[in-house]
Amino acid sequence: MKGIVLSGGSGTRLYPMTRAANKQLLPIYNKPMVYYPLSTLMLAGCRQILLVVNPQDEEAYRRLFGDGRQWGLEISYAVQPRPGGIAEVFLIGREFVGGDRVGLILGDNLFYGDSLPAVAERGARGPGAVIYAYWVSDPSAYGVIELDADERPVSIVEKPRQPHSNWAVTGLYFYDGDVCDVAAGLTRSARGELEITDINAHYMRVGRLTVEKLGRGYAWLDTGTPSSLLRAAQFVETVESRQGLQIGSPEEVAWRKGYIDNAGLERLIQPIRESEYGKYLQGLLARG
Ligand code: DAU
Repeated sequence: MKGIVLSGGSGTRLYPMTRAANKQLLPIYNKPMVYYPLSTLMLAGCRQILLVVNPQDEEAYRRLFGDGRQWGLEISYAVQPRPGGIAEVFLIGREFVGGDRVGLILGDNLFYGDSLPAVAERGARGPGAVIYAYWVSDPSAYGVIELDADERPVSIVEKPRQPHSNWAVTGLYFYDGDVCDVAAGLTRSARGELEITDINAHYMRVGRLTVEKLGRGYAWLDTGTPSSLLRAAQFVETVESRQGLQIGSPEEVAWRKGYIDNAGLERLIQPIRESEYGKYLQGLLARG
């Protein structure tokens, strides 16, 4: 399964933290932000990954992930010259997608929940487009979806002033192989972007959009402002300290999914033995 992580953008709301560093490389507690969405895609079964990044950040991402082989992945890179909208990834990544089914996750989205792997795997299988809705107190900051009594989508609007529901569209999406053609047919919005909401609205119009609600047992966290970034870090710290289990570790997901074996995990641990993270990974091997 193929997946795209969108990790560009200007991060202006986090300025000056994002003056010299890309937003998705900032830490959420003990890991770079982008580890969390990458792990989510891996849980969905995506092993061929395209990272879409800003030109000036490509080198940093290559240092972080390399070609992905260490985690049993195939990671490639594409540059978005400037933030022209989320849907632009399907123009930039057309060759990568190559008419296959593909997942997309925004590099600043953190998901947490017991059945997330099963839910994401289901989305990866399809059919059509599969997106996820999450109840939030202030939906006007997001794409907002309205569902009828049979849970069928009836409207989807980007950042509405007067939202028709509290169901925000999260930054995890799965599409069939037509998505690049759909993106190619879009026109830019008033803010000059190719909107992911317009792609979802297209799939809704042709009756090929499935919306899965993520209920109250899930966390979907925002990292867009300094205080939401801190809250996300506190959430991760709280759960990890209580359980002694980490959220969003690509090494662990790779090992648990069988993308790498014990020897592969051991090789990853060697150079970082002394860090808390390295010790955690050693603990996984010891427990079996
Ligand atoms: O997080 C979910 C929301 O994400 C959805 O509910 C909205 O429908 C969707 O439009 C998007 O809204 P945001 O306003 O949060 O998008 P933002 O511009 O903050 O970008 C989200 C991430 O994607 C961020 O990590 C930066 C990256 N990005 C964004 C754009 C527009 C890029 O890499 N390139 C881009 O051109």
